[in-house]
Amino acid sequence: MRQSFYSLLALSLLLCACSTKNPSRTDTLLRQWQFTQDTTDNPNWQDVTIPHDWAISGPFNRANDLQEVIVVQNGEKEPTWKTGRSGGLPWMGKGHYHTRVKVNKDKFYTLVFDGAMSHADVYVNGEEMVYWPYGYNTFDCYILPQLITGDSVDIDVFLENKPQQSRWYPGAGLYRNVHLVETDPIHIPTFGVLIRTPKIGKELAQITIEVELQNGVDELNEDCKLKNEDLRVQTDILYNGKVVATVEGPQGVTEVKNPHLWSPETPHLYTARTRVYKKDKVLDEVETRFGIRSISYTPEHGFQLNGQTRKFKGVCNHHDLGPLGAAIHKDALRHQIAMLKNMGCDAIRTSHNMPAPELVELCDEMGMMMMVEPFDVWNWGKTENDYSVEFNDWWKWDVANMVKHYRNNACVMLWSSGNEVWNQVLPDGIEIVTQLQDLFHQLDPTRPVTNGMDQAMYVIHNGFGAAVELPGFNYRTGRYIEGYENLPQKMILGSETASTVSSRGVYKIPAVLKDFAMYDDFQSSGYDVEYCPWAGLPEQDFQLQDDYNWTIGQFVWTGFDYLGEPSPYDTDAWPSHSSYFGIIDLASLPKDRFWLYRSQWNKEEPTLHVLPHWNWSEGDLVPVFCYTTYPSAELFVNGKSYGKLRFATPEETERLAKGEMIEGISAMPKVGDFVPPVWGSAPRPELLPRYRLMWFDIPFEAGEITVVAYDEKGKEAARETVKTAGEPDHLEIVWANKEENPEELCYMTVKVVDKNGNLCPKANNLIKYEGTGFIATANGDAACLDSFVAPQMHAFAGQCTFILKKGWKGSFSIED
Ligand code: GAL
Repeated sequence: MRQSFYSLLALSLLLCACSTKNPSRTDTLLRQWQFTQDTTDNPNWQDVTIPHDWAISGPFNRANDLQEVIVVQNGEKEPTWKTGRSGGLPWMGKGHYHTRVKVNKDKFYTLVFDGAMSHADVYVNGEEMVYWPYGYNTFDCYILPQLITGDSVDIDVFLENKPQQSRWYPGAGLYRNVHLVETDPIHIPTFGVLIRTPKIGKELAQITIEVELQNGVDELNEDCKLKNEDLRVQTDILYNGKVVATVEGPQGVTEVKNPHLWSPETPHLYTARTRVYKKDKVLDEVETRFGIRSISYTPEHGFQLNGQTRKFKGVCNHHDLGPLGAAIHKDALRHQIAMLKNMGCDAIRTSHNMPAPELVELCDEMGMMMMVEPFDVWNWGKTENDYSVEFNDWWKWDVANMVKHYRNNACVMLWSSGNEVWNQVLPDGIEIVTQLQDLFHQLDPTRPVTNGMDQAMYVIHNGFGAAVELPGFNYRTGRYIEGYENLPQKMILGSETASTVSSRGVYKIPAVLKDFAMYDDFQSSGYDVEYCPWAGLPEQDFQLQDDYNWTIGQFVWTGFDYLGEPSPYDTDAWPSHSSYFGIIDLASLPKDRFWLYRSQWNKEEPTLHVLPHWNWSEGDLVPVFCYTTYPSAELFVNGKSYGKLRFATPEETERLAKGEMIEGISAMPKVGDFVPPVWGSAPRPELLPRYRLMWFDIPFEAGEITVVAYDEKGKEAARETVKTAGEPDHLEIVWANKEENPEELCYMTVKVVDKNGNLCPKANNLIKYEGTGFIATANGDAACLDSFVAPQMHAFAGQCTFILKKGWKGSFSIED
């Protein structure tokens, strides 16, 4: 049946430019495919380029992922209608991809899928080669030599996304790259090189290499000798293109003198070039990048990188790239990392699945540490058809591929065995976590394994928390001390923190601490004072990280907004369909929180940021907040001072908590409605004056606000002004990722400004692009249903982003 499709397909033989110059091996990205979702015998085929996400073009529809469910992890007891939970996009259903590639009888072929969403069934010339259900993992298969009878083969990939398979937007299709690897039958298989750096000193670093070899589909024996022919394996270690050490044989040790150590600040990388020789002929050659760095986690020193204690200043990110969907784009990832680095962030948690290889490569190159996490569930599901259905049969394979794939990468600092798995409170939890950790360590004894635990109140005492090698708490800031005192590891990682919600540029007055606040406009306050009941504000985590040396850092939920999970608007609150948690919105535009984190995390460059906008109505009493690295600042409205404020000391926050007013520091914000803190994280308004400067109830007067920042000596160091904007007049276009020298994608920020160039903070005009190279657009409004793939977008809070292909030619226009 499946074979009958072949005769209907155009005979286009497709091979792209090889990505390696190496004559013994080529790694070709298979970019051109045909795609259909039509399952009839006579389907309509569409030409597509991989990476491809079939669902991102929409249209958005409430019915796409409508569910009546209880979200137990959010504390719900009754089923409710959930909308937009996985993005409101048509990602469910079946998809079929086909391509035909040239092959050569004398060669050996491996297909490597960086990820295929999902339940991939791969056929070559009608024979099933591999089935891999989990959509996020890399897997490979051979093209069996007996199937090569002519000079080409047909490759078919059948995919299926099931309803309730995901509690966020998973994407759909061949959304990551597919490689055709051509080698000699005698070759190094996928993930066949293992590099470790067991001893690292200033003068010398020891490097160990292990190389696997295969002949066709058969593994070779350990000393890599074929019956009648001797093979020789040699690995050269290169730094900046020069050989600095060599290992002879498939296993061996060498030393590198005066090693250049990898760190986020100094991302030095080495390359191991492994060659397999038969006499003088190179049969195979593989290059593996790695870094030299030491990591340790001890109660005495916490987390150390190269002997220096540091705490993770990390964010969690989902895998989608906003308007580009799940389809992988290196420039988009590069832009994300560059923005995060500017904020002072030094780590990413790949919540809750395997990353794309391009992300790990960029983290290595740009200096971003990683916590790599494969699972959101074990064998107890969160949605009906999620990975829990596959877990028992597949976890070993999935962990093995992930760890083998990324264990050579310098940026990977730790693994996570799972996120908020129900098994933390079930009788089998300890057994499963132990088995998982054993497998991780068998494959990689050099990094610890954490687990993102949200049931702190149970796991601290039920043995699960003690069984996790490096305990990770998701939220539950009120339980950290109890965890530290009771758990044997004497270290706690904030594996997931905050879950503050906000909308860029939308401010609700007065600024009051609230959980699950909802408004008629489907937005959350840009004052960064609202969060979900299971979570908290950034200050609760700053305080734990600053005051206790047994905390080893945090991963904020989330760095970037993502498609799906529109809490607090997830219960029948269509059209909300993307998250409000991001420090940076779905259009890659920073929210104010970006500068709050930057003021704490980026110690290299000063931060001075004032909010909100200054377009209010006469009579409004407006809070003005300032996020800064300077010790104090003064607020002026049209030249009139509203006082100078400095940050509260830890001791002063305790006095504030008791109700004292202290001259010269911010008052505490008021606290609004809260559900009882069953999870152990009560609101802590007293912590805010320690990290933000806040002037409350400033009477609005059109004109301008200025914050003047002072240094330690009380001298003016910087100032920042926001002006009342007039009517929208024209557009200002900024090429946001220019400095990153993108290969393909230009992120163009489009701002609606008045005639003096001031951002119009409430402008929602329709912006149109006419010209070549349009790829996608977004505005960061979680409730906006404008298509990502049409060349027009409403501005949101005066801004939106167009992603254009490098070399684009065109112009933007603004409608009333
Ligand atoms: C956590 C969970 C995340 C996300 C987040 C939202 O409990 O691990 O995946 O759902 O809550 O606050």
